[in-house]
Amino acid sequence: MAGGERGDFITGEEVLDRLDGLLDRAAEMKAGRPGVGAGVLTGRSVALVFEQPSTRTRVSLEVGVSELGGTPIVLPGDELQLTRGESIGDLGRVLSRYVDAIAFRSGSDDRLAELVAAAEVPVVNALTPRHHPCQTLADLLTLRERFGELDGLRVAFVGDGNNVARSLARLGGAAGLDVVVSSPPGFELEADAGAELVADPHEAVAGADAIYADVWLSMADEDAAAKRDALAPYRVDADLLAAASDRAIVLHCLPAHPGEEITADVLYGPRSLVFDQAENRLHAQKALLELLLG
Ligand code: CP
Ligand code: NVA
Repeated sequence: MAGGERGDFITGEEVLDRLDGLLDRAAEMKAGRPGVGAGVLTGRSVALVFEQPSTRTRVSLEVGVSELGGTPIVLPGDELQLTRGESIGDLGRVLSRYVDAIAFRSGSDDRLAELVAAAEVPVVNALTPRHHPCQTLADLLTLRERFGELDGLRVAFVGDGNNVARSLARLGGAAGLDVVVSSPPGFELEADAGAELVADPHEAVAGADAIYADVWLSMADEDAAAKRDALAPYRVDADLLAAASDRAIVLHCLPAHPGEEITADVLYGPRSLVFDQAENRLHAQKALLELLLG
């Protein structure tokens, strides 16, 4: 496996050669929950370190480790000695003596890199400013459930060229999706991320099988009125959805701000799969943990 002998899951690319199998296994685990996979992590512990807020990632990892028979240890960053100056490297060295894997959410990709360099157990990226690969696994599972296969599906991400967009472009693109990212000037994804960049949102969603929205201001962002103003024409609403394929679904990684990046009628409407997508975080991450530790 690329990405280190420990099988770290930092950007998503580390599991690309096993992605189909991972998604198959996630589907099996979902169908056979909680029995399928139970016991895979018996006697193992996983530290879940969160330096930023989380609902879905934290709960789905905690439940997932438990259902696999392991012990999840949730560690809010502000309750650790990090707050008194202990280095992230020492955290990685110490946790490695206790647990079998670490999941880490941070407002800094550099801190994740420091943790990975010091840890002696696999590290899972639970969101950084640049990447959110666990989210993409759930997105791919959701798309596959609806459409049967990923190859050639057109997915239009509309909004800030952020961590969720980047992971979707890199991991989803490598998995066979045609990813289009539509962002205003100054907030685009880099050109080599693997997505087609289309500034006009209506043009971007033409023929799309899925429209994907995310918050305009990420946890790593300063509140910026200018950013909200720039993104205002990129709101996902009924008009934009009508410009997509007749079979198009709506995705959002959540948390959502109805009325801002997406209208409530679309978020809670019949084309929205956002709560299936949230549920799939659990199944996809269980399959990932089995792959890394099983
Ligand atoms: N989608 C997602 O990662 O949600 P949380 O921030 O609640 O974990
Ligand atoms: N882009 C968002 C995703 C939250 C799950 C953020 O980083 O805050």
